[in-house]
Amino acid sequence: MYLNCTDEYHRNELETLGWELTVCNSLADEKSSCRRALKNPVSFGEALYRFLETLLPMKGIVRVIEVGGGHGNLMADFVRLNPELKPAMIDISPALLALQREALQGRDVEFVHGDFYDFPDEKLISYELAIFNENLGDFPAVCDITASDIAHGATRGNRIIEEIARDFAKYNFPVPDLPYFNYNIGAVRVIERLCAAGIPYIYVSEHSCEARLPDELAGFLNVCADGNPRAIRLYGHVEYTVRFSHLETVARHYGYAVRRGCFADFLPVKWTDELHFIVHSKSAKEEHEIIRQFIEDLYTYEYLVLT
Ligand SMILES: C[S@@+](CC[C@H](N)C(=O)[O-])C[C@H]1O[C@@H](n2cnc3c(N)ncnc32)[C@H](O)[C@@H]1O
Repeated sequence: MYLNCTDEYHRNELETLGWELTVCNSLADEKSSCRRALKNPVSFGEALYRFLETLLPMKGIVRVIEVGGGHGNLMADFVRLNPELKPAMIDISPALLALQREALQGRDVEFVHGDFYDFPDEKLISYELAIFNENLGDFPAVCDITASDIAHGATRGNRIIEEIARDFAKYNFPVPDLPYFNYNIGAVRVIERLCAAGIPYIYVSEHSCEARLPDELAGFLNVCADGNPRAIRLYGHVEYTVRFSHLETVARHYGYAVRRGCFADFLPVKWTDELHFIVHSKSAKEEHEIIRQFIEDLYTYEYLVLT
């Protein structure tokens, strides 16, 4: 059993997200080929804001906290669409926080350099909306756990195993029928903190290990979603896909209503003949591979909106 962490990488090594093209960043450029694949070819932040408007009273919200805002593209769209917003941007990476300052120049924004876990509860409770986009997989994951660890956790003399065993008992998480499995302990702690702080509206998203492809796409796209968080090896760090049913259970435990879905809900694909060809042909042309990866992401990234 071991704990996978990315904090040192984000704090000390990361200079740009160029290595890991998030869905948000892949839609930032107006001329990007990914935008052309959408029914409504807009930026990620705009599509998400319009979607949240259908679920939340966005016009009445002022205090929003975004944790891990990357290049700041999402929040730049949010403040453009709603200039009343007063965001706080919390990021463990000094390099990315600097990019966020640039993207949000001239706006009334608070920037906080640090780990979300060190952000004080007294401040957290003051926000009306919390945003964690495409980053829960960066938070710690415990790997290679056994069913026996869960059953005998309290007697193992290991703080992390005790903590996991407590979580499984408290939330009645099913014990996977696998010799070894992984657990998103960091993402669970994030949802617990946000819910315990009573933030009225919460949006989180990440690469899911429980994603389902629509029948017509299954077989053409490469989706591994067996319910066990999977390692994604990236430059300088490893992150894990997220078991969203655990996060959903935690949120319901705290009395939140849960809306769960995938990015394609608010970024619907424009299924032209060209796009059908790109998905079905498995063509190796670079642009086609980028678009295929993007479409895959639209169905394998899940979100939760908690109210
Ligand atoms: C994969 S990037 C996602 C960036 C952006 N939200 C997007 O969708 O493009 C992960 C972000 O989370 C930040 N991050 C990772 N762990 C963090 C932590 N413990 N506390 C605060 N920020 C963190 C990273 O520095 C980075 O900005």
